[in-house]
Amino acid sequence: MKNVHESAHPLVKHKLTRLRDKNTKPKKFRELVRELGALLTYEATMDLLTKPVKIETPMAQIDGEDLEENIGLVPILRAGLGMVEGVWGLMPSAEVWHIGLYRDERTLKPVAYYNRLPIAPTVSVCLILDPMLATGGSAVATVDILKKWGVEKIKFVGLIAAPEGIARLHQSHPDVAIHIAAIDDHLNVDGFIIPGLGDAGDRQFGT
Ligand code: PRP
Repeated sequence: MKNVHESAHPLVKHKLTRLRDKNTKPKKFRELVRELGALLTYEATMDLLTKPVKIETPMAQIDGEDLEENIGLVPILRAGLGMVEGVWGLMPSAEVWHIGLYRDERTLKPVAYYNRLPIAPTVSVCLILDPMLATGGSAVATVDILKKWGVEKIKFVGLIAAPEGIARLHQSHPDVAIHIAAIDDHLNVDGFIIPGLGDAGDRQFGT
């Protein structure tokens, strides 16, 4: 599917396997979420624009390149929070805009509870960070919010996805590139990704 990128990187596969393991404790789980967030973002940002800039090395003047666009990191609370630090380490000048959504356990629909975006957009590219793309409802709602805010270039960076979530996000927003460590088998009747990794929020925060 165009615009859907499942990582083939051995480091991603290794760390994702450790992440899925039910014996992985919250401290290690958080470390893996942070590292995977950075690795996937490295792959997701291959097409960021740069602008020429002249600098001097200790030896000579050269034409270098600086990032051209203002980048916004948009973690979906809570679970997306754990991906921020690793990604921010790669792009320290990025802005972080939190979106609070939780999934109603009965209807599986996203419920919005936090959004402090200013009226005018302050960034031109947004990376949505959330470890899980299950039904896709939370991701679609977040893209809706960001497009309404005025951002046109949006990417979703996640760790695992169900085919149902990929299809829903792709159908609703085909322009949004989806970067994911792995696409799993299916969603169960409770809306959990199978084989998945359990609940990424609970496993990070020990709840
Ligand atoms: C999880 C996950 C996504 C959402 C995915 O969050 O982190 O945000 O569910 O499901 P969807 O694709 O079906 O919308 P959850 O609602 O468990 O909240 P939490 O991050 O606070 O634990």
